[in-house]
Amino acid sequence: TERTLVLVKPDGVSRGLTGAILARVEAKGYRLAALEQLTPSRELLAEHYAEHEGKPFYEPLLEFMASGPVVAAVFEGERVIEGFRSLAGATDPTAAAPGTIRGDFGRDWGLKVQQNLVHGSDSPESAAREIGIWFSR
Ligand code: GTP
Ligand code: MG
Repeated sequence: TERTLVLVKPDGVSRGLTGAILARVEAKGYRLAALEQLTPSRELLAEHYAEHEGKPFYEPLLEFMASGPVVAAVFEGERVIEGFRSLAGATDPTAAAPGTIRGDFGRDWGLKVQQNLVHGSDSPESAAREIGIWFSR
């Protein structure tokens, strides 16, 4: 079965939404296969966000992601990659539909404020790469 990497970003953890977010994913029927909490190093984040290097939001994104604990989870299930991204909603929480994680819980957005609560892998290749980064230690 397919696997995906889900991150509850520092805004989600600090707001006490970790349980509510993971509960939605479990309730949908995906299986929690691994779980950890850590404050990621810049090195880990640079690897994770390599595709965004050089973009205007890259530095603020790394700074935000390193600002506090993150919960990393692996979920598995049929078409879980697409399924989780659908549960998460649009990248910009001010545009995400109600009923989605970002639409229901997120609000802030801007060049220095990318607080959109969660990350989900966008392809099987990304999932394998990202799970290796977050769960290799
Ligand atoms: P992830 O699941 O976090 O990867 O979100 P995504 O796939 O919907 O977005 P993408 O991979 O394009 O960008 C990764 C992260 O960078 C986003 O979740 C945001 O936190 C941030 N980001 C992306 N685009 C922008 C942008 O235009 N402005 C700002 N401020 N942040 C952005
Ligand atoms: Mg992405």
